[in-house]
Amino acid sequence: MGRVAYVNGRFAPHGEAAVSVEDRGYQFADGVYEVWAVLGGRLADADGHFQRLERSLRELKIVPPMTRAALEVVLRETVRRNRVREGLVYLQVTRGVAPRDHAFPSPAPRPSVVVTAHSVDRAAADARAEAGAAVITVPETRWARCDIKTVALLPNVLAKQQARAAGAVEAWFVDELGLVTEGASSNAWIVDKAGALRTRDTQANILRGITRGTLLRVMAREGLKVEERPFTPQEALEAREAFITGAGTLLLPIVRVDGHTVGNGKVGPVAKQLRRLYIEEARRTAV
Ligand code: PDD
Repeated sequence: MGRVAYVNGRFAPHGEAAVSVEDRGYQFADGVYEVWAVLGGRLADADGHFQRLERSLRELKIVPPMTRAALEVVLRETVRRNRVREGLVYLQVTRGVAPRDHAFPSPAPRPSVVVTAHSVDRAAADARAEAGAAVITVPETRWARCDIKTVALLPNVLAKQQARAAGAVEAWFVDELGLVTEGASSNAWIVDKAGALRTRDTQANILRGITRGTLLRVMAREGLKVEERPFTPQEALEAREAFITGAGTLLLPIVRVDGHTVGNGKVGPVAKQLRRLYIEEARRTAV
């Protein structure tokens, strides 16, 4: 059996699953999404992603298409039908289908719901994490509501493509004050030259990463001091270590920024330990 996707109440073969050409997600990027890591067939950081989804929908005044419990059943069933043990499950909710008109359709259409899942090669991801990866920096060009996880990702797409062309895995956005905001699809961290763990505060225009939040709790439990304080690309270059977090990569050590090595150019002990601790915690609490 091949891959299947959930679309508005039905499972369909992945290649045939489709939404209307007048879906507002397609026309206006008028929708939100969430991504859960699947660890051992279960959803990592489940509650945090559900909470953020509910907040994103609220911020866009999209009525939740179903209860959290029902959605959880759909996510699980999508994971099961695609036989994903290690991978990702993707959920997209848009405002729905309506004749093209910028303002909200009235009455509100039924939101469109799409869920897909795919497997990842965790051993290959572990090998990448052992080797460390590169990031580039790009100017921050996004809108002022990056706290909402909308499908409007064009600046992120362009930044990621620029990173890929440069042989890097991620692009870090740098705001007009010269401070790193976050990655195109991850949050950014350093262990600065004084040894302090730093990541940008969530008062800034960034996504409140669920992986970030869990990692902060793990760090607190381990007695590790963290400063939620921004850093510049220069500070990242002078840092001992750097890494990124997100449902896609979990925690990936960064050893190059804009072509310059971070620290000694090797994956450092802090990033290594934190990756292990995060994955242990996420596996332990996955549902
Ligand atoms: N991206 N910042 C941005 C802009 C993101 O898109 C993401 C996640 C994160 C990390 O958030 P979390 O820890 O909740 O995954 C930060 C997902 C994985 C994606 O777009 O595929």
